[in-house]
Amino acid sequence: MTDAEIDYEVDAEDLTLAAPREIRDDAKPSLVVDDLHITYRVFGGKKLGTATQRKDSFVRKLLNQGRSHVGSVSEVKAVKGISFVARHGESIGIVGINGSGKSTLLRAVAGLIPPTKGSVYVAGEPSLLGVNAVLMGDLSGERNIMIGGLALGMTPQEVEASFDDIVDFSGIGNFVYLPMKAYSSGMAARLRFAISASAVPDILMIDEALATGDATFRNKSTERINKIREQAGTVFLVSHSLATVEAMCSRVLWVHQGELVADGPAKEVCAQYKAFVAKSRAKS
Ligand SMILES: Nc1ncnc2c1ncn2[C@@H]1O[C@H](COP(=O)(O)OP(=O)(O)OP(=O)(O)O)[C@@H](O)[C@H]1O
Ligand SMILES: [Mg+2]
Repeated sequence: MTDAEIDYEVDAEDLTLAAPREIRDDAKPSLVVDDLHITYRVFGGKKLGTATQRKDSFVRKLLNQGRSHVGSVSEVKAVKGISFVARHGESIGIVGINGSGKSTLLRAVAGLIPPTKGSVYVAGEPSLLGVNAVLMGDLSGERNIMIGGLALGMTPQEVEASFDDIVDFSGIGNFVYLPMKAYSSGMAARLRFAISASAVPDILMIDEALATGDATFRNKSTERINKIREQAGTVFLVSHSLATVEAMCSRVLWVHQGELVADGPAKEVCAQYKAFVAKSRAKS
């Protein structure tokens, strides 16, 4: 069964609503997200409607080809009032079905999209490592290491000094001299992880990247994540692999339709989310 076939409607009473988490006094907050709202404005988008309307819009779309500014403006409320506090040394998993707003939340925390409403306070420099990270497929891994390193705030000398480590860590060997578009998705993900983790950021955010790694790479990444945590950083991990999330994270946020429905110990929240997915599957 594919994800698209699953009915993910939730009954409010089935959910344990995110309770404000007990705040530990021993660690300083590295990140405060306060009533964050992110609304995307989509230009030229059509609201989903009935079959006839859809037919209409398909014809109109043909007529409007090449004129992307023609058409209505729709809004997608991707994040709807999320609040939480993250602390130094925490590794936090983010789970939720496709389109629930996980990547949007990370991009907002990384400062890549401005909040529509609410605020994000960050202590230190966040670094987002996502499957959509702005590395360039036409350029070699070598060039991308430089670009990625500079984007993380390293100096060219620092990037050069970490070059061998990054290549070693990624395990891509001589592929580093080939354009990234020649890489398998796993190789590309490993290189992205290696680049992002090389800078020892205050907040490391990983979007799905580890799902493609094999067991050896996952072990290496876990070690790296633990090292960042030890250096009092904070790690966020978005993944559809609950096993990975449970193995790497102490705390999990479950996002559903742009809202935070649970926030608590990894095991508990993953169990709730698993039960919810199983129930949704059984319904459909
Ligand atoms: N650039 C964009 N413009 C318009 N809408 C967007 C954009 N990016 C995401 N969305 C919409 O915002 C919502 C949340 O998307 P998001 O990518 O954050 O979900 P996600 O939880 O990361 O999903 P997945 O598990 O599939 O990666 C979805 O409805 C999506 O269609
Ligand atoms: Mg995503």
